Formats: sequence, C-alpha cells, structure tokens
Amino acid sequence: MEYKDQIDLPRMPNHIAIIMDGNGRWAKEQGKLRVFGHHNGVLSVRDVVEGACELDLKYLTLYTFSSENWNRPKLEVMAIMELMVSTIHKEINNFMKKNVRLNAIGDLDMLPPKCLRELNKAIETTSVNTGLVLTLALSYSSRREIVFAAKSIAAKVQSGQLNIDDINEEVFENNLYTADMPDPELLIRTSGEYRISNYLLWQIAYAELYFTSKLWPDFRKEDLYEAIYNYQKRERRFGMTSEQVN
Ligand code: IPE
Ligand code: IPE
Ligand code: MG
Repeated sequence: MEYKDQIDLPRMPNHIAIIMDGNGRWAKEQGKLRVFGHHNGVLSVRDVVEGACELDLKYLTLYTFSSENWNRPKLEVMAIMELMVSTIHKEINNFMKKNVRLNAIGDLDMLPPKCLRELNKAIETTSVNTGLVLTLALSYSSRREIVFAAKSIAAKVQSGQLNIDDINEEVFENNLYTADMPDPELLIRTSGEYRISNYLLWQIAYAELYFTSKLWPDFRKEDLYEAIYNYQKRERRFGMTSEQVN
C-alpha cells in the first residue's frame, strides 16, 4: 500500500516546515554546476506543494534562502534570485488553480528590488485564496526574527502600549513573523544533515523532526507522505507520560 493511503487524515499535522537541502551536492554528483541543482529543486517544490494540496494541508513553510546564504559566491546568489523571480512569476497561475496563498517571512528588504516586486505581486494576487498557505522563508534568520520580536515588544513597552508584566509567550509569538500561523508539528530536512541551520527556532520547540538522506531535487510528494506517515506513528508526549497521553 502507498504511504498516502495509510495517512490518517483527521490526524494530519496543520503545519509542515521543510529545510530543502542538497541541491548543490545533487548537481555535483552529475558533474553539473550547483545552479543546475537549484533549477531541479524547483520541480521538487512544485510536486511537494501539489502533494500538500492533495492532503488539504493548511500550512507549508519552505526554507528557501537563509540570511547566511548571502555569503555564498555572488554568481550563485544572483542565479538563485533570478530563479526565484522566474519561478514565482510562472507559478502564480498554478497557485490560483490550486487555491494556494503565497506568503513570505524573513528580511525581505534585502532581496533585489525585482525579486521583491515579483514576490509582492504574487502574494497580493494569491491573497484571495483560502487553501494551503505556502510560506517561503527568504533571507531568513530565526535569531534575527527573535531579536526583531524583542525590539517590537520593547518599543511597545517604551510607548506605554504594553506593561512588562503582560509579556508572555503569546505576546512574544504575536511579534514573530509567523504571528498568524500555528507552530509546525513536523519539520523535515533533506540531504542527510542533522541540523536546524537557524530555522524557526522558537516555533519548532515541540515539532517532530524528520531527517532523510534524499537530496532535495530527488524529494517528491511520496517522500512527503512517507514523512507524514512516520510522524503519525510517533507518540507526542509534551512532557507527560505515555499513560497520560493515551
Ligand atoms: C539548498 O541546497 C538550497 C539553498 C540553501 C539555497 P544547497 O545549495 O545548500 O545544496 P548543498 O547543501 O550544498 O548540497
Ligand atoms: C539551509 O541550508 C538553508 C536552506 C535550505 C535555504 P544550508 O545549506 O544553507 O545549511 P548549512 O549551511 O549546511 O547548515
Ligand atoms: Mg546545503
């Protein structure tokens, strides 16, 4: 039986986050330039988004470009930005057909103007959609996001809008980029690396982590289904005992 048929739909996670890693190695394995891997990674994104829609997933958040990725060779960074512009442009129709709402988190002002324009256009156009919320983490750093939240809260205290005693986890969350999203229940990382690389540090406090050695350009919706199936086999205890949660 296929993994998809074994997924318990009422127990679907609401939010899945993915660290799409391994494009460069995938290309290198074939004697190609790293950029070739990024281009093929887009095909995986398309397939995984389709798979997420088939299961009526509510939130999918993809680590697309980290703040640290700006330190890569200039040519690679430029190629990724160009790829982003053309991909977002091409995908709008597909998003409209699939009822996908595009969203972005990160230090978006760092993006080249052309890229930001295309992104904002797609976000605006798809804002009427009510299906999957597809969030791209772009120029994203979780630590920066947390510092940003701390600053916003401090500003509210300084201006008298907020009392220090009223600061709690909920207030903090409401000041993150992900304010209107539930926390991911499942975090997937491809390419066999076992690290978080500055991604959603606050939000994944209790996420189930799933690592696969597949490189991102080889990842398809069947792999997403396998990850969800694996997630559903786990017991989430949140600090309690097994007896308590059962
Ligand atoms: C992920 O693949 C894509 C981005 C970080 C933009 P990589 O480009 O990191 O590929 P590897 O990890 O070097 O193989
Ligand atoms: C994480 O991958 C960022 C994205 C997938 C966009 P990296 O390839 O940049 O992570 P590290 O540097 O190997 O940790
Ligand atoms: Mg990598």
